[in-house]
Amino acid sequence: MASDAPFRTIIEPFRIHSVEPLRLTTPEQRRAALDGVGYNLFSIHAQDVLIDLLTDSGTGAMSRDQWAAIQHGDESYAGSPSWFVFRDAVQHLFPFRHVIPTHQGRAAERILFEVVGGPGQVVPNNTHFDTTRANVEATGAEALDLLIPEGRDPSADHPFKGNLDVGALERLLTDRASDVPLVMVTVTNNSGGGQPVSLANLREVRAVCDAFGKPLFLDACRFAENAWFIREREPGQSGRDVIDIVRDMAGLADGMTMSAKKDPMGNIGGWLAMNDDALAEQARNLLILTEGFPTYGGLAGRDLEALAQGLREVVDHDYLRYRIRSTAYLGDALVARGVPVVTPIGGHAVYLDARALLPHIDPLRYPGQSLAVALYEVGGVRGCEIGTVMFGRRPDGVEAPAAMDLVRLAIPRRTYTQSHIDYVIEVCERVAARAGELPGYRITDQPAALRHFTARFEPLT
Ligand code: F0G
Repeated sequence: MASDAPFRTIIEPFRIHSVEPLRLTTPEQRRAALDGVGYNLFSIHAQDVLIDLLTDSGTGAMSRDQWAAIQHGDESYAGSPSWFVFRDAVQHLFPFRHVIPTHQGRAAERILFEVVGGPGQVVPNNTHFDTTRANVEATGAEALDLLIPEGRDPSADHPFKGNLDVGALERLLTDRASDVPLVMVTVTNNSGGGQPVSLANLREVRAVCDAFGKPLFLDACRFAENAWFIREREPGQSGRDVIDIVRDMAGLADGMTMSAKKDPMGNIGGWLAMNDDALAEQARNLLILTEGFPTYGGLAGRDLEALAQGLREVVDHDYLRYRIRSTAYLGDALVARGVPVVTPIGGHAVYLDARALLPHIDPLRYPGQSLAVALYEVGGVRGCEIGTVMFGRRPDGVEAPAAMDLVRLAIPRRTYTQSHIDYVIEVCERVAARAGELPGYRITDQPAALRHFTARFEPLT
């Protein structure tokens, strides 16, 4: 009997056009690699990684049409046609008056906070990503995370665990309005589990910003994934075009920072955008110092073309349905096998709750690091600690446990197939089965800031 009912299996809405080999290694080879780099997964050679879930940043597969767009790249220093294609694609989704291209998200952050930051200032955000925090703090300002309490509880059930705590924002502004240069909201909340922010929350934040005369900026790296969650979960939003939801998000803000290595499907890129003319002029002056002329920023014309095409592809509903579903596929399988993960499952990654899985390891002995190392050793799967290694050292040098100790398995866009993910599930299951044997770690060497990238560790026996 023919039926028009949808099929249960949500397939990848693309097929493979060009392939890259994966290199299989043995546990012995991986143990030697770990020992050689002080157990820091950022220092492992990528060739020694089988399934690389370190990040979804710049690691996605570009489409046929993006590679074709690269051939249209025009490398004129000033006024390149590729710049106008890029600018129009950005403004189609985010209609801010000024768009300032940068080589990646943190360059946009550095420029923004160099203009508005400084000693005595405080920048609230639902949760600052690590580079955002570092760029705020580098100016002498304070980076304050004001996430709703549910967002800090790995198993709390809430459709929008990325929401900003509006009451806390109001209290901050009541006490210190003159110290707050702007309010930031990160969509989706990467450091808090890839959790979305609702339109209703953005509207409330906007109202508080208006009451105190403060600009609202989005850190919008994963805007399309956030918009898809709004469409799926927020009352009154189902059935809307994602493009319209994205425009609603943008319409509530005065500006944005962007890493185009995420939802814009680029291997490199970013931008800073805003409506304020004076702020834009200051930002462009800084841009020229380190990034480049304002019609290319830190990018080649060909990059601008690829990003413009990526922006068209990421708001496709079939893509977003597959993207969010395939991340949940990994998360749901781990839940079914009793591996503790942050729930509901986020957009770009599954976050393993290392503190829950390894209760015998004190947070100051880095359970997230221990779990990430074990996943690599056992199966060649590279994830990323997001916990006390990343956030546990305050600017004054004092160590304190981070709010959570997580290991993020970030899914590069359009890169791995379902059987790759089935393998990852098996590796996680095997590591979880011997969780009680995993050791804590101590740091033997670390830099002053962003220590997770280069610190060296030693297992505690
Ligand atoms: N903001 C958020 C929310 C991010 O996730 C990132 C990068 C940035 C800003 C900085 O952008 O890397 O282009 O300079 N996140 C990557 C990650 C690195 O792995 O989550 P960038």
